[in-house]
This record gives sequence, C-alpha cells and structure tokens, in this order.
Amino acid sequence: MFCKTTLLTIALALLASESVSHALHHANTGVRVPISKRGTLTNSDGTFNHDKAVREIVKLKNKHRQNLINLQKNRGSQALTNGAVIKPLATVPGALQKRDGVALTDQDDDSLWTGDITIGIPPQSFTINFDTGSSDLWVPSSSCSSCGDHAKYDPRKSSTSSRKIGWFEISYGDGSSVRGSPYTDTVTVGGVGVHGQYLAAVSKESDEFATDPSDGIFGLGFRAISQLGHNPYFFTAIEQGAVSQNVFSFKLSKSGSELFIGGENQALYTGGIEFHNLSSDRGFWQIGGASVSVNKKAAGSGFETVIDSGTTIIYAPEHAAKEFWSHVFGSKEYEELQGFYSFPCNSAPEVAFSWGGKSWIIRPDDLNLGEIEEGSGTCVGAIAGGDLGLGDDVWLMGDTFMKNTYTVFSVYGEAAGAVGFAELA
Ligand SMILES: *[C@@H]1O[C@H](CO)[C@@H](O)[C@H](O)[C@H]1NC(C)=O
Repeated sequence: MFCKTTLLTIALALLASESVSHALHHANTGVRVPISKRGTLTNSDGTFNHDKAVREIVKLKNKHRQNLINLQKNRGSQALTNGAVIKPLATVPGALQKRDGVALTDQDDDSLWTGDITIGIPPQSFTINFDTGSSDLWVPSSSCSSCGDHAKYDPRKSSTSSRKIGWFEISYGDGSSVRGSPYTDTVTVGGVGVHGQYLAAVSKESDEFATDPSDGIFGLGFRAISQLGHNPYFFTAIEQGAVSQNVFSFKLSKSGSELFIGGENQALYTGGIEFHNLSSDRGFWQIGGASVSVNKKAAGSGFETVIDSGTTIIYAPEHAAKEFWSHVFGSKEYEELQGFYSFPCNSAPEVAFSWGGKSWIIRPDDLNLGEIEEGSGTCVGAIAGGDLGLGDDVWLMGDTFMKNTYTVFSVYGEAAGAVGFAELA
C-alpha cells in the first residue's frame, strides 16, 4: 500500500524539480466546476420569447447537422445509422434576420450554462458553454475582430500552444458561421489539466455568437462527432490519467449548478444512480428504450434519447411531439415551423420520462416557456417537435429534462458508456 505522505513528498519534489507551470493537477477524487446562468426562453414579464426560441431551434438543427457531417467524415456513411440524414442547413426566417441586432443583445435571459476554463501556460481564462451534444472545444482567437467583447485566445502568449494544420467551421442558419484554426494546448477545467488538447481558435464569429454571454463551446460528446477529429477534453483527461474515475456529472438548476469532473458529487443527489448503457456508438450520449407519460398515462414509448446539455428544451420527432401533445388537455399547435405547442397555463400536466426504471418527473414550471401574450392564459410548452436528422425515433433531452435530475455521464471506451440519473438532493 502506498503511503500518502510519501506520494505527497514525491509530488512536491516533482513540483520543485520541474517548471512549476508545467505541473498539471491530477484529481484523486473529482473536482467541482461551478456553472451559472439559468437557461430560459421566457421574457422577464413571463411571456414566451418567440424570436429567441426560433433562433435557438435553428441553431440546434444546425449543430446536429454539423455533428452528422462530422460523424460521416470520421466514420464513413455507414455510421449514419438509425435513419440519420444530413438535412439542408436550417435558416432563420427572413423576418427575424439581423433586426438591428436588438433581439440578440439581451444577456439577462440567456439560455446557456456557462463555466470557466483556462487554456495555455500561463493560463488564459474563458467562460464557456459545457455541451454534451457536441465534441469540439472552440474559443475566439486574438485575431478575431468580429468576436465582440469575448475573451480571446492568444497562442503566441502560451508556451505550450502548437498550431495544427486544417480548418474548423460551423455554419449557422442566419448565413453566418464560426471559423478558425486548430491548435493544441494545455486546457484546465476546475484545476484538472490536460496537455496537447485539440481546440479551435476562431477568427470569425457569427453575430449570433458575438453577443453570446459565453466565449465558446466546450464539447463533452464522443470523438466520433468531433470536427477536429481528435479526442475531446474528457477523453484526453482519461488517456492522460488526469481523472480518477471516467465519469462526469451535472447538476443544472436555478442555483448551485455544477459540473463535477472525475465522478459524482454525492452531496447533490439522494438514493442510487440508475444507469443505462449507450444504445449507439455514433458519438452522442444516446440511450434507448425511453417512454413518456402525461399525468401518468402513456404518451409515447420505445424511443431513443440524446442527453444534450447544450439544448434548452426537449425536441422530439415531429410525429412524436404531435402524439405527446394530443395527450395534453387543451393543447394546440402554436408555431408550426419550429414545432412549438401551447396549452392552458393553469393546467400544466405532470410529464415524466422513463428508461425502464424510475419515472423522472419534469416540474410543471419547467414545461412552461411562458405565456403567448401577457394575460392570454395560454402558455408555450418546452417540448417541441421537428426533424433534426438524427433519426425518426430520437428525442433530444435538453435542460428542461436535465434540470430535474442529477445526470451522470460514464465513459467505458472510445465510443461506449452509460448515462445515469439520480434524484436531486
Ligand atoms: C453495460 O455495459 C457494460 C460494459 O460494456 C457491461 O459490462 C454491462 O453488462 C452492460 N450492462 C447492461 C445492463 O447491459
């Protein structure tokens, strides 16, 4: 058995002998990364922010379109299983495009979960959006003139940065895109550092992102959907032995949200964790055998789910959303184009999801995105329907779901793992 004091002495000796700046922390028990900013598509007066919701859906469609393009590039066309199809680029309806940028500047009601990371040595800090539904890390580069007030990565100021060949680009539906060059560098999250991490430093940002409260995106999905085609941070951390357990966990709520790296934070959940092995190796945190109920009555079953912390709502295939809402008293299609439905505000149903074990309930508040108009008594639901190209039985489970459970992501291998759910403490 190792003596802790001896190990500590060795660690200190190593620290002293090496350049201190190169010593990366390896977590023995896991580390907490506080994350903040509650996601919402509701205006401060309680009404539904229609324009923002439309933009969000368009962005969502294009994110997953890009994931499928990356999957095809990394694994070949045969990887597009489960009826997956790369859809044409989704676009924001003309009337909503670039309206003096007014709709984009409101940062009070952002729909992201952000946290801090550092890149390089000495460290450069960024506020990023932790996204289990994509697999690349990108931040603005110091050469970006369209990146608003965001923190910018200057590779020349990092002793560990290395420029890589290639190009990184994601297109968005307002005709704009995020573009940049790949680098490798040291990346530290909650003190857990990895070296040689691939990332993109973008020199052009879309209007959509220039006013976004987060500087960039931190992908926590699998390598199969990485555009850079390299291990995302958490897989690098596993490979380099930087985490004691191949697990990360999320609590997303009004306050006290955190990402826990290297295990689960036992203070944040009660009871056991119900694990489900991934049902697909195509790079998403995807689990199957799901069902949904409305007021305890079945409203859909036998579908696949992708757990996506980078999405605000729950997005179902069109036919499944239609079926689901047919079980909700007084519901109506509200916005056909992006697949939103409305329901009487005073009779929000109890919605629950199950993967064959416990029923995981969505609080009625979380199902409600706000009133169509102030005083109308009609509210928009946080389960919408449309085709993302992921397959016609795949639901995307965003914050609306994740806010109601402690969610654990466990990696078994390059393309295998499990998602676990537990009751929030
Ligand atoms: C889940 O996957 C692991 C690792 O491949 C395996 O050992 C385990 O039996 C699987 N569990 C179930 C319920 O299939």
